[in-house]
Amino acid sequence: MTVLGIETSCDDSAAAVLRDGRLLASIVSSQDAVHGPYGGVVPELASRHHVRNVLPVIDAALTASGIALPEIDGIAVTRGPGLVGSLLVGLTVAKGIALRRRVPLVAVNHLEGHLLAASLDRPPEDPLPFPFLGLLVSGGHSGLYLARSRGDYACLGRTRDDAVGEAFDKAAKMLGLGYPGGPVIDRLAREGDPAAVRFPRATLKRGRFDFSFSGFKTALRQYLGDDRPTGHALSDVAASLQEALVDMLVDTTVEALAATAVERLVVSGGVAANRRLRVRMTEAGAAMGVEVLFPNPRFCTDNAAMIALAGAPRLAAGEHDGLHVNAEADLPLGTRWGS
Ligand code: KG4
Ligand code: ZN
Repeated sequence: MTVLGIETSCDDSAAAVLRDGRLLASIVSSQDAVHGPYGGVVPELASRHHVRNVLPVIDAALTASGIALPEIDGIAVTRGPGLVGSLLVGLTVAKGIALRRRVPLVAVNHLEGHLLAASLDRPPEDPLPFPFLGLLVSGGHSGLYLARSRGDYACLGRTRDDAVGEAFDKAAKMLGLGYPGGPVIDRLAREGDPAAVRFPRATLKRGRFDFSFSGFKTALRQYLGDDRPTGHALSDVAASLQEALVDMLVDTTVEALAATAVERLVVSGGVAANRRLRVRMTEAGAAMGVEVLFPNPRFCTDNAAMIALAGAPRLAAGEHDGLHVNAEADLPLGTRWGS
């Protein structure tokens, strides 16, 4: 079965071709340069650029895979969560192709794509085994999911305010470091002292696995006052704020691992590229006998390969969501854990 994946939930236009579980091509057109001057994603600009980019990206994925459009057996497209204007572009194109080629279309939850992305690094006959805990950390999402089997997910917690990537981006903006902020802070932090400035860590109720980054943001704003930091080098501030964010992610994840007693953790999303998070999470996992996996960075950030991968078994089983399926800005994944 040959699947065309399409993803346009935020600011990346992406297409991929997956044949019998094997990835033939994955193309991503990033809009970082478009949104950079604004210090964050501007939804209206994002959808306009998807309109411009989505067809060339699909063409590029088909060309790179050596697959012609008539050879596509089905389409997997992101339904949500995401920016509704952006989602609509991918969904509309997917419907158009499905209608014209008379192939089935399945609408995929973007978060399921992220959760399963680690399988893209493995041969199709040896996918990521269940159960596992998924920590999803990107510019749009921060959540912990227990993946029991394909299609059976429970949400243990999510952010109550900003996503952690957004916290990195806003911190970088306050420091005048440009967008996206995570990679810059990661780089600067390598030279800095993580104990130089003590930023607060949000502590939430025991037994709850939600995140909150608003207190951290306020503390950073207060620390910076009206001017750039004084007394500490920029690298020390970067290392210290990164340490606070990483601490919050590691502490909550460790609690969730203990509560679920799973032996495998997958960390995905753009923030999974963070070097300090990788080190700290791997150490924490090792201390608990938990295997910690980070998908290849190109599958951590938004891509259509993970969408094709998540949709392929449903297409293979003969499912078709039809042409009336709608985009959903806030599409929850699975049930709430414990309920
Ligand atoms: O997954 P992604 O590409 O897009 C979304 O779905 O949001 O994630 C982008 C986010 C941005 O907030 C960016 O600052 C953050 O991931 N990020 C990082 C690093 N690389 C990207 N955050 C911390 N450290 C990094 N090395
Ligand atoms: Zn994403």
